[in-house]
Amino acid sequence: MARVALVTGGSRGIGAAISKALKAAGYAVAANYAGNDDAANAFKAETGIPVYKWNVADYEECKAGAAQVEADLGPIDIVVANAGITRDAPFHKMTPEQWRQVIDTNLTGVFNTVHPVWPGMRERKFGRVVVISSVNGQKGQFAQVNYAATKAGDIGIVRSLAQEGARAGITANAVCPGYIATEMVMAVPEKVRESIIAQIPAGRLGEPEEIARCVAFLVSDDAGFINGSTISANGAQFFG
Ligand SMILES: NC(=O)c1ccc[n+]([C@@H]2O[C@H](COP(=O)([O-])OP(=O)(O)OC[C@H]3O[C@@H](n4cnc5c(N)ncnc54)[C@H](OP(=O)(O)O)[C@@H]3O)[C@@H](O)[C@H]2O)c1
Repeated sequence: MARVALVTGGSRGIGAAISKALKAAGYAVAANYAGNDDAANAFKAETGIPVYKWNVADYEECKAGAAQVEADLGPIDIVVANAGITRDAPFHKMTPEQWRQVIDTNLTGVFNTVHPVWPGMRERKFGRVVVISSVNGQKGQFAQVNYAATKAGDIGIVRSLAQEGARAGITANAVCPGYIATEMVMAVPEKVRESIIAQIPAGRLGEPEEIARCVAFLVSDDAGFINGSTISANGAQFFG
């Protein structure tokens, strides 16, 4: 039977590319999303990948969501914690609400996503956890104190999970994308985007598929000895 992979935020952007790459690699994929039903339904129609709506910031929703996926597809062997948001502002203007929203979704959301499926992975002596961090978690970024804190936290999470899961056949790794051409990045003003591209030695944004290929490798049997690592995919923007 095909291994089951859950991808949070798997209906759009980088997550959609990850969902498609894992399906192409032979996994039974479930794509979670937050609330954009139109995008999720279009993704489902295009790919045949089932979509599941829940908020990764809510532990009980994550638990119920994972249980539903397992009832539909079987035990979850692979979890890709990809869902993430930005609420950018310079620190002196950042509101507690902007801080809290990003922490709840990007950091607590990883706990909420992995925690319900971890015991099953331990019991079955196999698991793959991949967390989508960011170059800005490695180097920090103006107006992203909240976001950079969560993305640096992702690296601490996988390094700790790696040590806890290694004996149980579970690996946990992070992928740190540089700037990728998704709606998140295309939404910034064109001038800002041009200044971002000017800082990338590759001279271009990355493609979501370039991140998806990193994930497909990390979840494969071939990557069983890679545990607690961070893959940077950023066009030589930063060596983290
Ligand atoms: N794009 C980049 O350049 C870049 C660079 C480095 C790291 N990253 C990271 O890569 C990940 C994906 O980014 P992206 O650019 O592909 O984002 P995106 O295009 O904005 O897509 C975000 C996805 O996450 C889902 N999502 C957001 N909040 C959620 C929540 N509370 N619960 C469940 N799902 C939620 C969205 O669902 P809906 O469709 O329902 O809204 C959507 O499927 C993020 O963690 C981001 O921080 C991105």
